[in-house]
Amino acid sequence: MSGAARPRVIVTRRLPAAVEDQLKREFDAQLNADDHPFTVAELTNALREADGLLPTVTDRITADVLAAEPLRTKIIANFGVGFNNIDIAAAKARGVVVTNTPDVLTDDTADDAIMLLLMVARRGGEGERHVRAGAWTGWRPTHMLGTKVSGKTLGLVGLGRIARAVARRAKQGFGMRVLFHDPYPPPAAVVAELGAEARADLDTLVRESDFVSLHCPATPETRHLMNARRLALMKPTAFLINTARGDVVDEAALIAALQAATLAGAGLDVYEREPAVSPALLTMENVVLLPHLGSATRETRVAMGERSLENLRAFFSGAAPRDRVA
Ligand code: DGY
Repeated sequence: MSGAARPRVIVTRRLPAAVEDQLKREFDAQLNADDHPFTVAELTNALREADGLLPTVTDRITADVLAAEPLRTKIIANFGVGFNNIDIAAAKARGVVVTNTPDVLTDDTADDAIMLLLMVARRGGEGERHVRAGAWTGWRPTHMLGTKVSGKTLGLVGLGRIARAVARRAKQGFGMRVLFHDPYPPPAAVVAELGAEARADLDTLVRESDFVSLHCPATPETRHLMNARRLALMKPTAFLINTARGDVVDEAALIAALQAATLAGAGLDVYEREPAVSPALLTMENVVLLPHLGSATRETRVAMGERSLENLRAFFSGAAPRDRVA
């Protein structure tokens, strides 16, 4: 692609420098130098002005935004594996192709889930705060006892790529028993290789698990999947881990369960009203709170950028982008 014929691509947030440089080389790219979050008006204008949009998972490309007239954008290359930020039906109706960035963030997100699981079970966040506060008076046999992880039962909600990577870590690293529930399970050979055991319904999975880790997409069907009724099915010694999407959990119900001690704790990377975090959670020692760090390594953010670039490149050269989701 050369000169004046280069497609115009609008990028909504700062990306790693190597990715921005490559975008500038290949496209007539408009970058976001001050990294401000785009307003609805800016997103709508971008669809009027650019051939391609490269948004991130926090840009809400709603049906209203997609109603932009005249619509110039032909492809939305989302920077992220999740694409619940985009109204896919509206994109399809307007003939806009949508792509995502799968595979490249699988390991990092699985690491994030394991990090939360270990931190919450072994009181890592609390212990860190304790030392920093100068409150530590020394080792003693009864100080800050947590929950043993090795050999415990992990229940995976969904068994997609990230959940499978979590299963391998849990099984091989910690000798955990791995259960899963997935309405669209992978082939039996994949399940057998993981040594994971299926549970036909989510309630059973939740009842039997010491740790419940969420790995389903955010859809109307999965909204508040972990509601008050299901949280009440968890063992009072169990922990909830969420690296998926905030609205899979009813945050108010989670807070109530933690306050009533019908649940031992939670490790959260995502929130229902992100970036807002319910104030009650901030006061709880048995909750680990991370700022949506799942894919946040230098290597992976570059790889995600390259994947978005690859999708744009394929689309504008007339080929089928490999990560097309709409
Ligand atoms: C994604 O890609 O969907 C992640 O949530 C970003 O870390």
